[in-house]
Amino acid sequence: MSNPKPLRKAVLPVAGLGTRFLPATKAMPKEMLPVVDRPLIQYAIDEAREAGIEEFCLITGRGKDSLIDYFDIAYELEDTLRERHKLDCLKALEPSFIEAGSLIAVRQQEPLGLGHAIWCARAFIGDDPFAILLPDDIVQAASGKGCLKQLADAYHETGGSVVAVTEVPREQTNRYGILDVGKDDGRLVEVKGLVEKPKPEDAPSNLSIIGRYVLTPEVMPYLSKLEKGAGGEVQLTDAMAKTIGEVPFHGLRYEGTRYDCGNKLGFLEAQVAFALERPDLADGVKTFLKKYIDKV
Ligand code: UTP
Repeated sequence: MSNPKPLRKAVLPVAGLGTRFLPATKAMPKEMLPVVDRPLIQYAIDEAREAGIEEFCLITGRGKDSLIDYFDIAYELEDTLRERHKLDCLKALEPSFIEAGSLIAVRQQEPLGLGHAIWCARAFIGDDPFAILLPDDIVQAASGKGCLKQLADAYHETGGSVVAVTEVPREQTNRYGILDVGKDDGRLVEVKGLVEKPKPEDAPSNLSIIGRYVLTPEVMPYLSKLEKGAGGEVQLTDAMAKTIGEVPFHGLRYEGTRYDCGNKLGFLEAQVAFALERPDLADGVKTFLKKYIDKV
């Protein structure tokens, strides 16, 4: 398709309760939990920037204000660091700087589901294509190109919605949005249908959506019906499914490794994987890993 509208906007839903990380998330948002030394939200923002995103909308809830503070200027801290000539520390703050007016926050008063969270961004989205990044999924790039950049390229190629997909064990289909697969060239998969959290015996495939999407605005009228789906929540998957046939819809087998940091094991694995990528930490991590492996 020729010249689809440019992709400049991203919605980052962060209004969930994060119950799997209680008590840590009693008084701090899950998305502020660090992997090595950067909070989850920073990984999502970095990946979005690399994909050309310029405008960000956080869907927040009560108790999530530290996420907004994180992107603000920290005058006292910065002055103190400057006085003490801690230039490396000042540099470490740079990625958390967002140009004035480029980030807005909308409150989702009640966590009624991911679909409802995205619907809360309707004024921000308007009539434009938009990305969604769920910050509790982080994706380690394999080829130097981040997951969202790969989706953005596929959006420009197909002119329609594209979601990042990966194979999951069949017994886990009841945790994810699952694709009914049409034509499949091994990379891009035509989506014939979508089902949220199907039982393994009902699942049309084992290809699951991860927390990265590029959607066209045609999904918004379906979301605005606020129909409840699996788990009594307003499901984004259900609204996306209704746009199939109206706009091109594809799944992309992205290159990279996804860590589900919304669950404890995925979060712990991400710490190790990202620390091993860091020249200042890799050797130390390998040493302690060997120590623990010898014990098990
Ligand atoms: P999760 O299913 O991981 O839920 O949401 P959660 O509340 O964050 O965590 P648990 O399951 O209680 O441990 C996936 C993403 O959707 C957002 C979450 O913030 C997370 O980024 N979300 C979910 C909302 O913003 N609003 C909702 O109503 C539901």
